[in-house]
Amino acid sequence: MRVLIADDYHEMSRKAAAIVNSQVLLKPDCVLGLATGSTPLGMYRELIRLYQNQAADFSKVTTFNLDEYYGLDKENKQSYAYYMNTHFFNHINIQRENTHIPDGLSADINEACRRYEQRIAEKGGIDLMVLGIGTNGHIGFNEPDTNFIAETHRVMLKKETIQDNSRFFKSAEETPTMAISMGIRAIVQSRMLLLLANGEAKADAIYKTLKGTIRPEVPASIIQIHPNVTILLDRHAAKLLL
Ligand code: GLP
Repeated sequence: MRVLIADDYHEMSRKAAAIVNSQVLLKPDCVLGLATGSTPLGMYRELIRLYQNQAADFSKVTTFNLDEYYGLDKENKQSYAYYMNTHFFNHINIQRENTHIPDGLSADINEACRRYEQRIAEKGGIDLMVLGIGTNGHIGFNEPDTNFIAETHRVMLKKETIQDNSRFFKSAEETPTMAISMGIRAIVQSRMLLLLANGEAKADAIYKTLKGTIRPEVPASIIQIHPNVTILLDRHAAKLLL
């Protein structure tokens, strides 16, 4: 496990983008796993900048997003589909048919989840999975007490996650209480993991993830078993490690 500590959010984002772009340069038709949330926004901005400077080419890249809210359609400004389009896909040369986000509106959620897993397998699995982390240690929307061998599935969000995410909605009542998330299994089967965290609010989750025992109460702790993990933090998120 490599732990890199950046001075600030900008440096963290630049380094994250450099790692993602290295993967794309080494394997132009690679499969990326992508995260949403406020953490990777700077990384997406930097990847767009690299693309505009002709230093990045996404034309052959395939992507699978980690998660989506249950019950929000793609046009909803709070959906992760909308987030990915506005913050990344609309600004680069990725082919839309190569981008995948769990469908939070499917009439048959179990079937949609099964197809999502199948599609990942058909593409040969994920080369590089970018992860954020919840303050309660969740990855994707795999909440504490998650099943470590779970596949893509519907999850009930925990109170603290609904609270954390309510900042993007008009009120806590409007914040979705369910989501579709890639399971821990597909995440851990990715060939390389890149976990990003910034800000003091993540320090405790990062400490438990890296130094604690591997347990379902801290879903991210499972990454300790992975042979190729890079943890990229700003100083604030790394506070309890120093
Ligand atoms: C959300 C997402 C996660 C994300 C996490 C942290 O609940 N489902 O994929 O990593 O919260 O979000 P943020 O980066 O905004 O702190």
